Amino acid sequence: VSVTLPFKQLIVLGTGFGAYSLLRTAGRKYARIAEDIIVISPRNHFVFTPLLASTTVGSLEFRSVIESVRLRTPGRFLLAEATGIDWDRGAVLCRSALDGGTFELPFNRDSDALVVAVGAQTQTFGIPGVVEHALFLKQINDARRIRQRIFACLELASLPTLSDDERRRLLHFVVVGGGPTGVEFAAEMFDFAASDLKRAYPNLVQDVSITLVDAGKHLLSSYDATLSAYTEKHFARQSIQVLKETHVVRVEADRLHFKDGGELSFGCLVWATGNAPTPLVKSLPFAKDKTGRLLIDEYLKVDGAPHLYALGDCAVLNENPIPATAQAAEQQGTYLAKALTMRAAGREPVPFRYIHQGMLAYVGGHSGVADLGRFKGRGFAAFLFWRSVYLTKLVSLRNKVMVLFDWARTFIFGRDISRM
Ligand code: FAD
Ligand code: NAI
Repeated sequence: VSVTLPFKQLIVLGTGFGAYSLLRTAGRKYARIAEDIIVISPRNHFVFTPLLASTTVGSLEFRSVIESVRLRTPGRFLLAEATGIDWDRGAVLCRSALDGGTFELPFNRDSDALVVAVGAQTQTFGIPGVVEHALFLKQINDARRIRQRIFACLELASLPTLSDDERRRLLHFVVVGGGPTGVEFAAEMFDFAASDLKRAYPNLVQDVSITLVDAGKHLLSSYDATLSAYTEKHFARQSIQVLKETHVVRVEADRLHFKDGGELSFGCLVWATGNAPTPLVKSLPFAKDKTGRLLIDEYLKVDGAPHLYALGDCAVLNENPIPATAQAAEQQGTYLAKALTMRAAGREPVPFRYIHQGMLAYVGGHSGVADLGRFKGRGFAAFLFWRSVYLTKLVSLRNKVMVLFDWARTFIFGRDISRM
């Protein structure tokens, strides 16, 4: 069978859920799509974000939730950030992730395809002080910073010179944002305090407190109302303080300021108030929705450029928008690899169809919530379901073994509490 290759190059920006599933689906048969694949991303690994919160307290180790892109995907990889796309000249503008050096990757608008899968960054709403004083939870480096800050707070609080107020401030862990990211971090922090801190810092543990601040009426507002009510009750039982309908307007090095004039001091602040477009997506001159995501059609194509595709958190379907989740990005990546293969064979692909597989979240104390259409699960059974789903979803056998080993290690010996 003779195969016509419509694309000389396939350029993929990003190594997250969308890009990784596209590249893995293209696999060894990528020659059916393009003669050459070039992947550009500031990180040479894929991060399995559903288990990222567990790494902030050492329930899992960082390397257990990442996979090397070089070993597992086809094409050439460049460790760089795309800073812009000059569509008229046909060039992706890049900056090395190591030395900051800049370079351009030329492409031909007619014979090459470009896929933008750069995800999103954490939304800050431009609130003063957030970038300077809060920690985010998107990348492995973010999780590492949180883990270091937790131990810095614990060790500082152990010093004999501190006043009681100052000790309590340092041991106050505050999360802003009651979506699944904020809830899962608070849950992990609770587990860590309830089990490991009791043993390692017996004199401090009574002063440790966790507060979750949210501007909305309920936590996990995108989940079924019964599950968000369950999470709130569960947090109350675990003594996680929840401040609802509370808007943060300013952040200082050690305190939050609220719209109603209230304040809250903290030792460690994690900020998780949703997604915002990355600088690259902001810079692109194509149609976007009001939150700044690239508008794409049912073939994941961006209007106004012949072979420009976008998927995952940085894009939104023009009709029938779908959630900004890993499962959506993954399905889009798999679809696009198949659709491009069909185009290469001269066939018209069918439009993309999203299949919702439900939403899961871990809420601490071996409890989870599972929103699976008509079935709503909570408690220990949902926790077991959460673990088994994500264990099977982890891409490689190597990572599955590492995660299983980490869970067993944590269960038997507790978390590693060394500060590195
Ligand atoms: P990402 O996976 O974020 O990947 C973006 C990629 O682009 C990265 O490799 C990044 O390095 C790269 N990049 C960024 N800028 C540039 C640039 N300028 N040039 C080149 N490359 C660039 N979803 C679920 O469905 N279930 C869950 O349980 C779940 N848990 C989550 C937990 C946490 C803590 C977080 C933060 C998110 C979670 N999500 C979950 C959401 C999910 O991670 C995202 O929806 C998903 O990662 C989006 O995939 P993506 O490919 O669009 O972006
Ligand atoms: P989110 O958008 O789901 O929730 C953000 C929360 O922040 C909202 O509850 C909102 O009320 C609150 N908020 C906004 N501004 C605020 C302010 N100024 N002060 C206080 N609170 C404020 O964001 P999140 O959790 O970061 O998730 C991002 C995306 O990743 C979502 O699409 C989510 O579905 C997905 N995700 C899915 C997970 C899962 O399936 N288990 C886990 C983590 C993320």
